[in-house]
Amino acid sequence: MKYSRITGTGSYLPPRRLTNADLVAELAAKGVETSDEWIVERTGIRARHFAADGVFSSDLGMEAAKKALEAAGRSAKDVDLIIVATSTPDMVFPSTACILQNKLGANGGAAFDVQAVCSGFVYALAVADSMVKTGAAKCALVVGAEIFSRILDFNDRTTCVLFGDGAGAVVLEASDTPGILSSDLHADGKHVSILCVPGHVSGGAILGDPLLKMDGQAVFKLAVGLLESAARATLNKANLTEADIDWLVPHQANIRIMQSTARKLKLSMDKVVVTVDQHGNTSAASIPLALDAGVRSGQVKPGQTLLLEGVGGGFTWGALLLIL
Ligand code: ACO
Repeated sequence: MKYSRITGTGSYLPPRRLTNADLVAELAAKGVETSDEWIVERTGIRARHFAADGVFSSDLGMEAAKKALEAAGRSAKDVDLIIVATSTPDMVFPSTACILQNKLGANGGAAFDVQAVCSGFVYALAVADSMVKTGAAKCALVVGAEIFSRILDFNDRTTCVLFGDGAGAVVLEASDTPGILSSDLHADGKHVSILCVPGHVSGGAILGDPLLKMDGQAVFKLAVGLLESAARATLNKANLTEADIDWLVPHQANIRIMQSTARKLKLSMDKVVVTVDQHGNTSAASIPLALDAGVRSGQVKPGQTLLLEGVGGGFTWGALLLIL
């Protein structure tokens, strides 16, 4: 078995859905001014979901994972590796992957988190691919799960309108036929300060500010160039071209970033899976949420070639090319 292949996808959104109108009204009550027009025009976002108090990333991940396992025809007992991509873990430690493993009843295999913010799912899938290809794992569960609503500053209109909560998951199995074809991962730590949650735990207290800070324009400019270069690198590694891509499944941060990437890759927007309008930016959960939405709507079909790509805090970025 020299390949790894996705055999099932799943996703989950917490039930509380806020349209832009709902959020605008909540923010207005706090004296924070924004509008549906501004949010739609600048980002393409129309709604997002927020988790209830007492719900954790592992809970959202568990619902997504159960659906992915069902779609793959697997049970928790088959899973020998769990990787959770998250920047909003349940606890400082243990990892959300260990907590999820126990909730699923998949105990015994390896389990760990990957922290690459919005690129987290691409990173996690690339790591799982390597482990499956080397025989270190046979049936991996790769999950992106986030509760960004807990790290948003609802007095900062430049960030709080952008994000949402949710989870997506895939089952990745050893296979004789090609699945994941290539991946390309990068980070440049000199950009830490343009997108970060700078607080930390020390001596029983939180020091620094534990809420998201973002220089939106700096992120935007970097994202557009880096996503194109990662996309081209994965295509080159697989000896394919843009013309071979059936679907671009990008990180869902902003419709304008997706349109720009599609333009650079000469892809029509008909070939881009878009869920940002309904989910907002769910960070590491956004790619598997979009993938599952595409699969379950019947748009994205087995045998098609998909380019997944993400960019996020760190700064991190990466892309992954696969045959579904
Ligand atoms: N409602 C109304 N007005 C607003 C809002 C808001 N929610 N937010 C900002 N504004 C105002 C600003 O104050 C500014 O007003 P001014 O001109 O009077 O100063 C004006 O709108 C324009 O602000 P800009 O920041 O220039 O707006 P821009 O067009 O750059 O859009 C945005 C901002 C949407 C954040 C954009 O820069 C962006 O999408 N950046 C990328 C963000 C991203 O992708 N982040 C996720 C990365 S993934 C991760 O790792 C978490």
